[in-house]
Amino acid sequence: MASPVSVKTPPVAEKDYFTDRSVLLDPYDYFETIRVHGPVYQIGSREDVVIVTGFAEALEVLLNTRDFSSWLNPDPLTPLPFAVESDDISALLAATPSGEMELMVAYDGDKHAAARSLLNPLFTPSRLKANEAFMRTYADDLVRGAVTAGGCELVAEVATPFVTMVIADLLGVPADDREAFRQLIDDAPPPGNMDAPESQSIHPLMVMAGYFARYIAERRALPQDDVMTEMANAKLPDGSTPDAMEVVKSAMFLFAAGQDTSAKLIGNALRRLCEDQALQQTLREDRKLIGPFLEEVLRIEGSTKATFRIARRATSIGDTAIPAGKRVVISLSAANRDPRRWEAPEEFRLGRPRIREHVAFGRGAHTCAGAPLARAEVAVILDRFLEHTSAITLDEAHHGPADARRIAYEPSYIIRGLADLHVKFAPA
Ligand code: HEM
Repeated sequence: MASPVSVKTPPVAEKDYFTDRSVLLDPYDYFETIRVHGPVYQIGSREDVVIVTGFAEALEVLLNTRDFSSWLNPDPLTPLPFAVESDDISALLAATPSGEMELMVAYDGDKHAAARSLLNPLFTPSRLKANEAFMRTYADDLVRGAVTAGGCELVAEVATPFVTMVIADLLGVPADDREAFRQLIDDAPPPGNMDAPESQSIHPLMVMAGYFARYIAERRALPQDDVMTEMANAKLPDGSTPDAMEVVKSAMFLFAAGQDTSAKLIGNALRRLCEDQALQQTLREDRKLIGPFLEEVLRIEGSTKATFRIARRATSIGDTAIPAGKRVVISLSAANRDPRRWEAPEEFRLGRPRIREHVAFGRGAHTCAGAPLARAEVAVILDRFLEHTSAITLDEAHHGPADARRIAYEPSYIIRGLADLHVKFAPA
């Protein structure tokens, strides 16, 4: 008889953050195990990568744009096209695009400030107010439909179309094209998803770029009274007119940055409310608590697990020396659970003091441009769900009973979010 084969599971700290399926699906045990070794952890399997789990250290890196570049964002494993042969690779990084379609999140310094300024017409108080009016009406329609049906798969049927249309409205995408945008986003894999097919013919963002290129060219030729015209004619901080492609990329990047993140946050928040019926009822009775509730969800289960930097020059993080060229995974999830910063970090506490100091939206020059929008849209849809229901529960036919849940997360090293969430509604 053949002897049983023993499968050796690597100790959790030796698992690879980027490829180990158990870590991709559930990173929290992994973060706690590596935290024991200090707030900056050298990955065993990749000598050019460290992971930052400390809150203070994460802030240190996010705020230190002199020594850390965003060059490899959002693809932290992008190979360097040159050898690191000195203690300062700033000039080499600045001279080399990080990819074919380099986006604002990968820019540094003045180039970054210029790209970000192109978003200014979108985030004015009057534009956000108009967008909020759209999101209220649209959320109400979606939620009423789902509640009337008695249940839904929340991520695909409600959260994704909702956040996609909110960004389309913010940007002033013409009504006739919105359905095409929704379809494109539906088909796009979440960022950092290890299950995504290697060779997708044309990435959905490239297709969107085509639409935006046309809008911008049309508005530059024939200005209209709309937000797309304002974007098309926005000037750079030095007063010059940006290249049309830069405007296209800034607009398109909003879908890349704000779609999956917000849809997954809706899922993470609603799952928590399903699992804690008392909390759900408290929020239903006092909607002012939705804001603090969301902040604690962002802290304990924010939808962006990590962001990435590369050391431009020899430097340090806390007490750890960092050579030039070292890649840094800033684990926002781990920083938001650092026991040196948060009392009983694994506990969900509504009304935690100074909760808005969490780093779920990053910090510093690249801090999330869409954070006010994300907060508003998730709060609006939760409010509508609570308004139109007397109870929201997990559908046990899909997720199993309370003591044996089957919950699937996306296998992504960037996004923390549910692959699906089947819920049932008792109408109000
Ligand atoms: C819950 C939802 C969201 C989360 C958790 C989130 C998280 C983040 C984080 C952590 C960053 C910083 C990246 C870095 O430092 O490298 C970021 C950047 C950004 N986010 Fe968000 N985001 C969300 C929603 C949105 C939305 C709705 C939009 C816009 C419609 C948006 C637009 C952006 C932009 C433009 C940047 C890049 C800023 C820059 O590079 O200067 N985000 N986001």
